[in-house]
Amino acid sequence: MKQIIGPFTQMITFRHTALKGPLKASDMYIVENAGVCVDSGFIVEVGPFEDLVKNKAISSVMEISSSHVLIPGLIDCHTHMVWAGSRAADFERRNSGLSYQEILASGGGILDTVKWVGQATKEDLKNQLHQRIIRHQFDGVTTQEIKSGYGLDAQNELKMLEVIQEVNRQVEVDLIPTFLGAHVCPKGYERVAYLDYLLSEVAPKAKLMTNRADAFVEAEAFPVHLAQPYLMGMKKLGFDLTLHADQFSRGGAALAVQIGAKSADHLESTTFKDIHLLGTSNTVAVVLPGASLGLGMAFAPTRALLDAGACLAIASDWNPGSAPNGDLLAQCGILAAYEKLTAAETFSGITFRAAQALGLTDRGRLAPNYLFDAIAFPTHDYREILYQQGTLKPDIIWKKGDLLIDGTT
Ligand code: NIG
Ligand code: FE
Repeated sequence: MKQIIGPFTQMITFRHTALKGPLKASDMYIVENAGVCVDSGFIVEVGPFEDLVKNKAISSVMEISSSHVLIPGLIDCHTHMVWAGSRAADFERRNSGLSYQEILASGGGILDTVKWVGQATKEDLKNQLHQRIIRHQFDGVTTQEIKSGYGLDAQNELKMLEVIQEVNRQVEVDLIPTFLGAHVCPKGYERVAYLDYLLSEVAPKAKLMTNRADAFVEAEAFPVHLAQPYLMGMKKLGFDLTLHADQFSRGGAALAVQIGAKSADHLESTTFKDIHLLGTSNTVAVVLPGASLGLGMAFAPTRALLDAGACLAIASDWNPGSAPNGDLLAQCGILAAYEKLTAAETFSGITFRAAQALGLTDRGRLAPNYLFDAIAFPTHDYREILYQQGTLKPDIIWKKGDLLIDGTT
């Protein structure tokens, strides 16, 4: 049953926008006084509202009575949203002079969260994840990736993936799970032995729940020479790869390109040479401003990555350690100001370019044959959204054509 929705003062469609490189305002393919025709969850047509209403034998019209800007539903392509406990003590320790890596090396940090996730019941983890998803949904996120990685043994890694799978059935938004068994080495294991254990005993079972695998490529976690054979093994098992790369030490981004990873994420320490390597590759560069805010570190060289030609996505990295903030739009408004990103570049990074990082080709643009995942902000000017740095929230949200939230009534 066809439905026409509108008019929207402005609609950012990204109809023909390039996957890679810098973008300007005209690249957003904005339609003014726009309408969208939707059938069975998919977009049939986008154009001036008056034309759509005039020309169609339509079954229904949803009339938007006040000024709104419509953009594609947000895609958060890198999060760790399943966790238990709080790392507030780490935040305070770091602000008193300890580094993230020192806390990890002393057996805390990620390993504390691993302990608490191990103690938590599945129900408890599901409830906490559910609450975070509802919050994210109100911020406009309609597709989100979520990693395991706080289990670090077969039982608890699979428990985390099951939590994601089961909550996915309870919510309207899409959850995309990623296996991050290679987050850090658990206590009592040698790193090589742990990676062998993951490959032989955990990954084949994880594969039944996800085809995505991640590794924390870092001196304190898994350096390049250990991560590479593990990731090649994962590729052989049929996993798509994504890497935590170049957060503190270097070499991860080059490894990501070399092994054909879908994305290289973090990139705070990426060298000039590797920025250009990413720019000429098909690997999506994912920057995580929430981790820079949580750790008090410089942002990833986002402007330089775009100028080098990269497909640039922005994600929240929402996790209890490095990135507790979780507000993707607020982070985008801040990153845009620091890195001098246009609205076209910023919004692309949380819509169709983030979809590319997840290998999804059915969402992220408002164009025919795309899913109607969309969010409307109560404003007449798209520039208000990033300018207000997360304080202007969408008040109408659609997921696969269904009205998820309508705050206008
Ligand atoms: O993306 N750096 C590694 N992993 C996460 C942090 C996880 C944690 O500190 O709990 C990140 O920043
Ligand atoms: Fe992360």
